[in-house]
Amino acid sequence: MKLGVCYYPEHWSPDWWKDDAQAMASMGISYVRIGEFAWSRIEPTPGIFDWAWLDRAVETLHQAGLKLVMCTPTATPPKWVVDADPEMLAVDAQGHVRGFGSRRHYCFSSPSYHAQSARITTAVAWRYGQHPAVVAWQTDNEYGCHSTVLSYSKAARSAFRLWLQEHYGTVDVVNAAWGTVFWSQEYRSFEEIDPPVSTVTEANPAHQLDYRRFASDEVIAFNRIQVEILRRFSPGRDVVHNFMGFFTEFDHHDLSQDLDVATWDSYPLGFTQDFFLTTDEKVRYARTGHPDIPAFHHDLYRGMCQGANRGRWWVMEQQPGPVNWAQWNPAPLDGMVRLWTWQAFAHGAEVVSYFRWRQAPFAQEQMHTGLQRPDRSVDRGGVEAAQVHDELQFLQELTTSDPSGSAIAASVAAQPGWAGAKTALVMDYPSLWMAQIQPQGADFNALELVFRVYSALRSLGLDVDIVSSQADLPNYRLIVLPAHMRQDESLCDQLQASDAQVVLGPRSGSKAEAMCIPDKLAPGAYSALAGLTVQRVSSLPPGWNESVHWGGGGQTVSTRWREDIVCSGASVLATFDDGMPAFTRHNRTWYVATWLDRSGWERVLKSAALAAGLAPQIMPEDLRVNRWGQWVFVFNFSNTVVMYKPEESTTESSRCVLGSVQLAPQDMAVWQMVSRP
Ligand code: GAL
Repeated sequence: MKLGVCYYPEHWSPDWWKDDAQAMASMGISYVRIGEFAWSRIEPTPGIFDWAWLDRAVETLHQAGLKLVMCTPTATPPKWVVDADPEMLAVDAQGHVRGFGSRRHYCFSSPSYHAQSARITTAVAWRYGQHPAVVAWQTDNEYGCHSTVLSYSKAARSAFRLWLQEHYGTVDVVNAAWGTVFWSQEYRSFEEIDPPVSTVTEANPAHQLDYRRFASDEVIAFNRIQVEILRRFSPGRDVVHNFMGFFTEFDHHDLSQDLDVATWDSYPLGFTQDFFLTTDEKVRYARTGHPDIPAFHHDLYRGMCQGANRGRWWVMEQQPGPVNWAQWNPAPLDGMVRLWTWQAFAHGAEVVSYFRWRQAPFAQEQMHTGLQRPDRSVDRGGVEAAQVHDELQFLQELTTSDPSGSAIAASVAAQPGWAGAKTALVMDYPSLWMAQIQPQGADFNALELVFRVYSALRSLGLDVDIVSSQADLPNYRLIVLPAHMRQDESLCDQLQASDAQVVLGPRSGSKAEAMCIPDKLAPGAYSALAGLTVQRVSSLPPGWNESVHWGGGGQTVSTRWREDIVCSGASVLATFDDGMPAFTRHNRTWYVATWLDRSGWERVLKSAALAAGLAPQIMPEDLRVNRWGQWVFVFNFSNTVVMYKPEESTTESSRCVLGSVQLAPQDMAVWQMVSRP
């Protein structure tokens, strides 16, 4: 559990670097990420490299004992790259070229930009690949940020035609898969196929889905070129990328197979303002962030890397104070920077790195805070980062001096990434694309559904692993598929073979791979598991609420969506007003035929969790608890004092090692569960 920071030596006078490095070290920071936007300083003129300043910056940080995460600077190609080759620019859906003057202006399909990216990656990897301070490499920066995965350039069009050829072989197969007989869309050759834009009304959904798949593969291919160069010139260092929050434009599971560590950029207040939360939630969590936004992504990105790196993840950018880019940018309450940092460690982060060291007084992000203010004084985030460092040291000493205890670090290292969650939530990027392409109701947001179900699981006190549909599922007791719209035969086989309780959300299995209705109707391959068929669906406009009447008594509200299902074996556990099934169970499989509110989801998940032999509990509002090996972490996101002590058993007692049973607002505690002799 280490702290890091993102630093831009090129923004500051070299006279400050030494003091900065020492100040970082004394704040408890040990990792520094540099270089991701520095191309114009590294190579000011084509082919003429200026390494002197970067050598000196690297050496200064190294002398202070800091470890470096070096970056490839390809997110910001300088003006001369663009002027020499304007065709490398991305083109948006309206046909506008995405020009120079901010960042991420390249098209992932441009062959000449691939060459530029390989050239600059080779140059920095060759220069610093063997440096003793360099422990990791970050490829590029936030692939896809500012909606840049989908490009409609000439290069993208040619690459898409090739991709189709490789995937389908002949154009007749494409015609059949896409159903192009509809509206006379048939193609005679691959050369006739364009990207699915500028159509009069919606483009063919299968065509759109393939374009999403193609664009995702382009990001993966772009990244892979850099990864191969970095592994060659800098063997033994971790190769990482920094993913984003609530971002699904490429398949992160696929891309992570080329990484050693999945990292992500955590901006809890920015995400609370900019995503699908209700106005009440945006106000309520304006200064703490929604408790489950960081946790959801921690659990998601922990599930990315596989093999020897299974479960390895970091926070590469942690919000240190107000940011500049959300619609509204409140300041976090005192204590939140500390709480978010600990929350990441509680979910298994190896490193939490703040963005950024010092607030820049110039350019686009001048309103974005850092650990220091522009005048070099320490800002609130810096004070709280130092506090976390002191607490980590205290725990380290406490556990090493305790003859019966082992160090937290050692216990976490013994079980990297996975601490034995019994609940898996499956997240599938192609399913999310399917729902975006054909929402059927304007507010059917599949990503929101995944998040709301996750949030309900967490408010029941359950630890969750978010996994891909390719993951091994045998150790889970409860497997939840909130929005698995894609009919996925191999996943279905796994679910059939396991003895876990399985919860399927609305629209499960409602599309075959090629974005068409499955032969057996929804839920397609999952029909036998669920013991039912969906015969008709309705989306419900805002204001049209349905009531769900639970078999055991009580009712909740459902909105946005309802299905008419016919049971062929499933028993009905809840009905709509008209008596049609809203929630069913067939052996181990539970099916939800509507968009439930939080209490509805809690009810569904609690029943399935109990059947799975888990111990769900309703947690105090805005309190979150995680168990990680022998450690229990408790976080109070609320504005009131809360009392919480982990439940003991005949085999385990608990002892508080940080904080106490009484948690002040925005406070946290760490407990150690000790086996009884
Ligand atoms: C991230 C990005 C950083 C910086 C930061 C501001 O999305 O990677 O470069 O822009 O946001 O919050």
